[in-house]
Amino acid sequence: MPLESPLVLSSPHIRHGSNAGQPITRRDGVLKVTGKARYAADNHPPGLLYAVLATSRIARGRVKSLNVEAARSHKGVVEVMTPANRPKLAQDPDERSNPFMFRMDALQNDRVRYANQPIALVIAESLEAATEGAVLLEPQYETDTARIGLDAGDSFVPPAVGMGAPAEVRKGDVDAGLEAAATTIDATYETPTQFHNAMEPHAIVAAWDGERLSIDMPSQGLEFARGRAAGLLGIPPEQIHIRSPFLGGGFGGKGFVSGPQLLAVLAAKMTGRPVKLVLRRDQLYGPFGHRPPTRQRVRLGAARDGALTAIDHHVRTASSTYDDFFEPAANVSHALYASPAIATTYEAVRNDVGTPTFMRAPGEAPGSIALESAIDEAAAACGMDPLAFRLRNYAEVEPISGRPFSSKALRDCYAQAAERFGWAGRPVAPRQMRDEAGFLVGWGVGTALFPALMFQAQARAIVKSDGTGVVETGAHDMGQGAWTALAQIAADGLALDIDQVVFNAGNSDLPDAGIAGGSAHTATAGSAIHNAGADVIAKLADLAMGDRQSPLYGAGNQGVVARNGRLHRRDDEARSERYADILVRAGLSQVEGSGSVAADPAAPSNWAMYAHGAVFAEVKVDPDLGQVRATRLVGAFAAGRVINPRLVRSQYYGGMIWGASFALNEQAIVDGRSGRVMNADLAEYHVPVNADVVSLEALLVHEDDPHVNALGIKGVGEIAITGTAGAIANAVWHATGIRVRRFPIRIEDLL
Ligand code: MOS
Repeated sequence: MPLESPLVLSSPHIRHGSNAGQPITRRDGVLKVTGKARYAADNHPPGLLYAVLATSRIARGRVKSLNVEAARSHKGVVEVMTPANRPKLAQDPDERSNPFMFRMDALQNDRVRYANQPIALVIAESLEAATEGAVLLEPQYETDTARIGLDAGDSFVPPAVGMGAPAEVRKGDVDAGLEAAATTIDATYETPTQFHNAMEPHAIVAAWDGERLSIDMPSQGLEFARGRAAGLLGIPPEQIHIRSPFLGGGFGGKGFVSGPQLLAVLAAKMTGRPVKLVLRRDQLYGPFGHRPPTRQRVRLGAARDGALTAIDHHVRTASSTYDDFFEPAANVSHALYASPAIATTYEAVRNDVGTPTFMRAPGEAPGSIALESAIDEAAAACGMDPLAFRLRNYAEVEPISGRPFSSKALRDCYAQAAERFGWAGRPVAPRQMRDEAGFLVGWGVGTALFPALMFQAQARAIVKSDGTGVVETGAHDMGQGAWTALAQIAADGLALDIDQVVFNAGNSDLPDAGIAGGSAHTATAGSAIHNAGADVIAKLADLAMGDRQSPLYGAGNQGVVARNGRLHRRDDEARSERYADILVRAGLSQVEGSGSVAADPAAPSNWAMYAHGAVFAEVKVDPDLGQVRATRLVGAFAAGRVINPRLVRSQYYGGMIWGASFALNEQAIVDGRSGRVMNADLAEYHVPVNADVVSLEALLVHEDDPHVNALGIKGVGEIAITGTAGAIANAVWHATGIRVRRFPIRIEDLL
């Protein structure tokens, strides 16, 4: 879709470029489909050793013994690392120098805190020898009773700051609101433990050259990972070089350096040779985080006309015994629907599991399916169409704060998606529609919401005397297309065509691009890139304006604009000069600029900033077998300026499929006795396949946001998970009349 709005620039010198807004195909696409994209595990430096991790079968207790001798004397085994001989670290992996760090397990002692915790690392000349060596360890355990699930383990209060720290909010008088309501809903929803399940497992190739360390490792946060590794190893970050050109999915699970990856670094140190560690699929269910289960009690009050009088959202969740990450599931209730009274509260228990972490719309995904289900229940109780009910409770300002939204095209989203879906004429009562084959048909709607976040980042830009450009930042392409969208912003920043600009990203020697998370990467790294371009153009303009031989001489401050590799006078656009000519005459081979963006999360904003969307779902349910198929999904999303409509639509498709997965498929089944995940593989941990996604449409709704950031960009990575999950759950109710409040919805729930 065309976006003609001029950029609000930090520099007055650049005219809106022509690269952003174009549906360019992924620049890494051909490399990927031809197998030429080299992922971390594809690296084979000379002298490479293979490490295999031995992980705990128990969830709580201690390792009594390991048959290290049997493993070490096995043919091909070079070394066995256990807590007894693990090289010293400068920092205890259980130490946290700030609350925005995760504790990790890296063989610091014999204690076991969760199933699949690292207990030893076997290093060998071949993968086979290392695998056999790990089997020969035959660990013996002292086992304590595992505490698993929301009704086991010590309870604790959420941390006030730190990873996932939830904001508890009380606005107005919820009890009075419920008291005054004509209709009340009091329902409890449960969501399961889920794992990221990126296609690419966590992996690392680590090599030391004296005191310098090189790492190939998929990373959503190069600078974060490098800083943490440097602190643990006691070396300056500059001595660590991390390459992460491609990721096979991240989803929040690759933001931090993990215990197993750190052990591989130590193994390389120990043996003096490069070491590769690739985690087995089943070993991914533990040391790398997960989405914790939630039990959410949602109470709603509505007046006779459907206006909400109270929203009370209480979340019970679980964390680990040794860290505090907390799923902030009630956040959605802060921003979605207008209500005079809103309360969000939390409690949690400590389980014998690995520490949960950020995963695909952390908080919003489980929170949204609960709130959207409850809203649907309230609409039904009021006898109202669920879309009309949502519009009745449309939030004109952020409900908890009264702040205006920086932009909010949600009404357009509802209207466009409803029209496209054909929502009009939907019977209000459930179990009214059947298809020609006799399947029950249901239609549901959900509202999508995700905060528009910004982090800090830096970038560098260069224009060379041949007129071409180079733009560099350590950005991460997780498969979302950052390498393409950011290159579009880079080219516009230099007012060049994308083919004239080399865009370098994906390694830690480049300026810090922040993290690829929180759906904020394009806005964050893009803003830094844009500012770097503006800096270069300003320097070129200074050169030209001060040069008597330049047609731009004396144009004056702000009197110059860049377009297609030339600077033009604003007062006489015919007077212009090529970048190349400016540089050649100045005797310079290039001019370099830098840019940064630093969003201070603590700084109060006058604006509430969110992306919004509306998702409509059709499901068909077999009345005899209870099998559910999501046969049609139509979403419309408004997330500010669209840099690349093809990639954005692809992000929405991915999010909607995750939403369907949340509603109908995904669940890690944790055995309450052993604490082990019983379906720790992609065969039994269900995710949708192509056949499950019958019809999918994502509409891009125009939205100008002059406040969110200089580029007007909100995030698109995670929002479509929210809304979709609830829309499907609500469609299942509409098809069957059965309200399932425990997710995923199973066949047996509908019989
Ligand atoms: Mo995402 S869960 O912020 O990688």
